[in-house]
Amino acid sequence: MAKNLPGSMRTHHCGELRESDIGKTVTLCGWMNKYRNLGSLHFIDLRDKYGITQLGFEAYKGDIEELRKFSLESVILAKGKVIPRPGSAQNANMVTGMVEVQVEEIRLLSLAEEVPFLPHGMVQATEDLRLRYRYLDLRSKKLQDILQLRSHATRKAREALYALDFNEIETPILYKTTPEGARDYIVPSRVHPGKVYALPQSPQTLKQLLMIGNTDKYFQICRCFRDEDLRADRQPEFTQIDIEVSFPTLEYMKNLATHLVKNVFNMPEDFEIMSIPYDEVMRDYGSDKPDVRFGLKQMDVTSLFKDSSFATFSEVASAQYGMIKAMFIPTSMGTLARKDIDGLVEIVKPYGGKGVAWFKVENSQVSGGISKFIDPNLLSSLYEKSSEKGDGLWLFCADKNFNVTHDCADALRRHFGKHFKLIDPDKYAFLWVYDFPLFDYDADANTLGAKHHPFTRPKDEDIELYYSEDKSKVKDVKAYAYDIVCNGYEIGGGSMRIFDNKQQSRMFELLGFSPEDAQHQFGFFIEALKYGTPPHAGMAFGMDRIVMLLAKTDSIRDVIAFPKTASATDLMASSPSRPSEAQTKELGFKWLENLGAK
Ligand code: AMO
Repeated sequence: MAKNLPGSMRTHHCGELRESDIGKTVTLCGWMNKYRNLGSLHFIDLRDKYGITQLGFEAYKGDIEELRKFSLESVILAKGKVIPRPGSAQNANMVTGMVEVQVEEIRLLSLAEEVPFLPHGMVQATEDLRLRYRYLDLRSKKLQDILQLRSHATRKAREALYALDFNEIETPILYKTTPEGARDYIVPSRVHPGKVYALPQSPQTLKQLLMIGNTDKYFQICRCFRDEDLRADRQPEFTQIDIEVSFPTLEYMKNLATHLVKNVFNMPEDFEIMSIPYDEVMRDYGSDKPDVRFGLKQMDVTSLFKDSSFATFSEVASAQYGMIKAMFIPTSMGTLARKDIDGLVEIVKPYGGKGVAWFKVENSQVSGGISKFIDPNLLSSLYEKSSEKGDGLWLFCADKNFNVTHDCADALRRHFGKHFKLIDPDKYAFLWVYDFPLFDYDADANTLGAKHHPFTRPKDEDIELYYSEDKSKVKDVKAYAYDIVCNGYEIGGGSMRIFDNKQQSRMFELLGFSPEDAQHQFGFFIEALKYGTPPHAGMAFGMDRIVMLLAKTDSIRDVIAFPKTASATDLMASSPSRPSEAQTKELGFKWLENLGAK
């Protein structure tokens, strides 16, 4: 396919010219990256998206003094002849480093005022400044390369799904609440005063309605909006590769995920995703999205400490939701100095951990930390659970709330992965985590929340439990839900869906919706399930996270052209902003007095 159409202002781009072009007359356009005035010799480095080309002025007949007026980042058009550089001026580190363009004609297309920072090379500016002038930062090679990577990944995803006869279908942005566990972004209606639209947290109900509507295989590369606490891998608006199919099995869903991942990540033909049930992944890693590029599995040792004379542990072991997890670091992996061991508490603190208990084994002798509570029997029981034997350091996380234990053990494992350099940065390690619980259970309040979302189907063998009156039993229902994990990121998730309207109504009841609320928010959907619903399932991949992995960056802001800060603001456009008086009036708003700045 032709890359160039006739009619461009330039004949070549700034990363294109080679020795084979010597003798050609060319026209280049770009930004002034550098100007060197060596008295009799003048050089400009002209930069565009594709690279840098050196311009020389030895044959220039115009007024050389004019060049001084060109500021850095000004946009220039230069016409001239490609000549070889003399040996001493050749630059093997630049793809265009063997040639330069002897300028015959130069035109200033746009004079730049002094820029707040220079966007090439090592950008010496704070992130806030770079976000405020995002269009300058976007001139950098790093961000342009990532945008290109993103464009290619999007295309690969589309092609992979088109190859399986999926239809790409758009769904509304102005819609109604679509619960995915965050708050909605709300858009007030002018036409219906006092009423609002909600921006979709995902097109979940819409894609299910498409299945009810005979669409069979749907996908969409769509924007989702969630008002939630932001993290390094979360933005308030982000992009999903959203998928739904009719009449699938779980096996089909995993094959579909494998097909997509294989294409987007360019994995080999025999690529497979390792499957692991939720209970196992939590037991071994304390997280449902572990980075399995390295081992360091954890062990549940709660039962070993039931009768321990170490009161802290025996109390945790006897508590209803208590859990003790151990991790063993063999000496062959590395050793920790005493101050490093003492510092581990700082790693678990943010997760509610109060400390990290430990003891050492040297020449089969225990010492340090809680060693006085470790008798030979207990020691051999611990080693029985461990795949690694020999000398090393035993570490323990314990809490009366097993979620805290898991979180702390996960944090420690991630810390050691980095500390002992166990992670191969060039590897992608995928996991298919399945058999998730259907609910999150709050034992204190005796309430249930949807673990994935309220449209996820309970497993057939747990249906009786699903209708149990006792929520502390219902909490054990498992779901046909799955996540796709890569290198410690949840890159996708989905489920088989409820396709029976009574089962769906029961779900809203269990989640604490009154029949009126359920009817108000989801009545149309529950009704739709009545008129013949095909069994269906789906999943959504987080495009931004996929690109983070492909680009090997750990900031989601790097992979979005115009990202928001951690407080959900756009520093460039100063968004969100206060609406004008006229808009406020039109929408029938009255601000509370104490609502901050104008
Ligand atoms: P879920 O909520 O798991 O599922 O989202 C799917 C994937 O989207 C990505 N993701 C995010 N990426 C960036 N910023 C965020 N705030 C953010 N939130 C989620 C993650 C996640 O795995 N409708 C269901 C899918 C389904 O059941 O079909 C859904 O949205 O990579």
